[in-house]
Parts: sequence; C-alpha cells; structure tokens
Amino acid sequence: MLTGKNIILGICGGIAAYKTPHLVRLFKKAGANVQVLATASALQFVSELSLATVSRRPVLRDLFDLEGPGDDDKTVHITLGEWADAFVIAPATANTIARLNAGLCDDMLSVCFITLRPDKPVLIAPAMDGHMYGSPTVQRNLSALAAQGCSILDPESGDLASGQCGLGRMPEPEAIVTAMEAMLRPAPVSPLQGRKVVVTAGPTREKLDDVRFLSNYSSGKMGFAVAREAARRGADVRLVAGPVSLGTPPGVERIDVESAADMMEAASRFFGDCDLFIGAAAVADYRPEAPVTGKIKKNDEAMALRLVRNPDILGEFSAGRKPGQLSVGFALETGGGIGYAREKLERKNLDLVAFNVYDGATTGFEVDTNALTLIDRAGNVTELPVMPKDALAGRLLDEIEPLLPRR
Ligand code: PMT
Repeated sequence: MLTGKNIILGICGGIAAYKTPHLVRLFKKAGANVQVLATASALQFVSELSLATVSRRPVLRDLFDLEGPGDDDKTVHITLGEWADAFVIAPATANTIARLNAGLCDDMLSVCFITLRPDKPVLIAPAMDGHMYGSPTVQRNLSALAAQGCSILDPESGDLASGQCGLGRMPEPEAIVTAMEAMLRPAPVSPLQGRKVVVTAGPTREKLDDVRFLSNYSSGKMGFAVAREAARRGADVRLVAGPVSLGTPPGVERIDVESAADMMEAASRFFGDCDLFIGAAAVADYRPEAPVTGKIKKNDEAMALRLVRNPDILGEFSAGRKPGQLSVGFALETGGGIGYAREKLERKNLDLVAFNVYDGATTGFEVDTNALTLIDRAGNVTELPVMPKDALAGRLLDEIEPLLPRR
C-alpha cells in the first residue's frame, strides 16, 4: 500500500519519540521512503543516529540544512514539500501543535508543514500529559488544524510519563502506519467522478446598518465536509460559502459571499450546468427591509424592525432544474419536527432532504459531529447516527450516489 510513497515523519520532543525508530522501520518495511524531520527537543529523547540508520537518510532539523531529497536546484524546504506524498507528525507536542496552527516557520518541521502541497494528507498524532491534552488551548489548536484538513489520530489512554494515568499516549506505531495506509488508499471510483457539484455552506449575514447584521450560528463545517468529500471522490466542486473561518478543502473552487442575496447571485451562476446541488447553508429567510447607512443611533424608544423575505436559493434551483439535475437540501430543527423536513422535501421539490437537530452538544450548528435522518422522494428513511461531520459527509454522499442518473 505504501510502496514507493515518500513520507515525511516529523518528530517532536516527547517521551513517545523513543518509539519512532520502530515507526520508521514499519514505514520502510511497507515500502515507503522516509525522511525524518526532528525538532531540537525530539533529539533529547531519541538518537539522531538511530533515526538516520533506520531511515537510511540524514535527519533534517535545522532550517538551513542544505541537503535533502528531491530537486537539487531548489532549497531543501521547498523540495521536501514537493517530494512528500504525506506528512506524519508523531509524537506531536502541544508546543508544535500551537506553532503549526500559528503558521510559525522557525525549524525544518514547521516550514515543511507550510510548503507541503495542499492536496497531500497530513496525519497528526498528539502525545502529551492528559491535562495538557484536555486543555482548551490544545483542543482549540487541534480543531483549527482539523478544520484546515489535517487528520488527528486521537491519543490512547494508559500510564503517562508525567506519572498520570489517562488520555495522552501516542498510539502504537502499527496504528499510525495503518492510519497512513488508509489515508493514501486511492478513493474508489465514484459515480461523482467528473460531475459538477455545487454546495452552499455556512451562515449568511443580513445588514441592519454598516456595523450590525442578523445571522445564525452556522460554522460551515457540515457543508465544507460535504464539499471536501465530493472533491475527494473526483467531483468538480464549487463551494459557495457564507462568512466562516475554515480553510478551503483541497481541489474545491470556493466563492465567498456575505448575504443571502450574494449567495443567490453566486450560486445561480452554476445552476445551468450542475449535476448536483446540495444546500447545507443556513440561509437567513429574512433581511432588514431598509439597512441604514452608517450606524443606527439609539434612543429611549423601542425599535421595530421590518424584515422582508430573502430569495430561496435551493427552491429556485429545484423549480428551474433540468431533468437529471439532483437537488438535496438540509433541514435543521430544534426539536423532533421530522414532519417539517418532509414538508421541505415536497415544497422545495427535492430529491433528498437531510434532517438534523440542533441539540447544543453533539448535533447541528458549530460542533464537529452531527447526526442526519435522510428522507427521499419514495419515502425511504435512513438514520445516520452521531459521528464526525467528515464521516457523515461520506455517508450522505454514499446515499446520493445511486440517485445520480447513469451516464
Ligand atoms: O455549518 P454547521 O455549523 O456545520 O451546521 C450545519 C447546519 C446545521 C447549518 C446544516 O447541517 C443545516 O442543517 N443546514 C440547513 C439549515 C436550515 O435550517 O435550513 P432551512 O430549513 O432554513 O432551509 C432548508 C434548505 O433550504 C436548506 O438546504 C437551506 O440551505 C436552503 N435554503 C433555505 C433558505 C433560503 N433562503 N435559501 C436556501 O437555499
């Protein structure tokens, strides 16, 4: 599976670094070429000679190292980013995780993280004391790296070098190699290959005045996960995104918009030639009738706000679509309400509706997980339980694929 693959292994300064010569050996045994990049602290825990011996290459650590794999005419940190098929960081310490998220480039590991080609997979295996791992700072940095497409291999529970027993152990090298093999496995040929897919994602903002707006809590994570997975399956994906702070998934054409009217204008440019339209955005149904130039001044009176309807983007696509164009919508409710989803399927003339509930903890807006109930036109209902939004996007596309017309 890894035969001929070029893997960069970034090693940070944690006790689990002592397992990395074995990790290198497993990668080599699976047929990969391995270039080790070690931070200065990593080499306090594991010997440079051991790593160079098992990888059969000098270990790179200094930003100014002059020799590495790849094109001799370019500097090492540039050629490494081009040479690599994948980047594994194991063990990843809290310090390096923070530095990668901040975009620092002060050693070979951090600079190569930036120069890596955006379509190449990155696997991060955090390992540290349990309290450190659970801290909001580390979790925030990991979430940000996950949002830009890095895969995080969760640490395991057990005895820790800190004396604690808990979550924070680096998974065994065998598990890291298995995860890497799964990431580099070519995607099965999908019916989405070469199809034109439009995804809307995130919230919209409806201006009250020049400094205030009406909006909602959508983070864009669900729609971005769908766009990322559709592109991974070979679709030609346009992602029309409201204001969110997420990185663009590899291979996706992204169009940033602000209001529902902007989203309508951008999405409608692709109505004519798209094979599949997926509305994951939480589009504001209403906007202030007359946004004020400047800032609304307060006084002692109550204020009435008159709202007018926004265009229904998904509804308009469905109403005007040609035979063979598929239309998929989401429906968010705050309680039971599956009847509302069925009503949306009918009213918006959808092929499939994905019903989800905002429970404030594991499903709906903002969180990294979600659960969906899919309802199709024939009345079939498929329950997809709580899982990460990335995995859920895959399950959703698995259900959509058979609905695509044959070519
Ligand atoms: O972004 P996240 O934080 O990850 O959260 C994901 C999500 C909860 C936003 C997502 O899973 C979701 O449910 N999106 C739809 C939210 C919703 O309630 O939509 P709706 O019931 O208002 O609209 C139904 C469908 O019509 C949706 O597909 C929507 O994109 C579309 N629509 C709605 C109004 C409008 N003016 N134009 C539209 O296209």
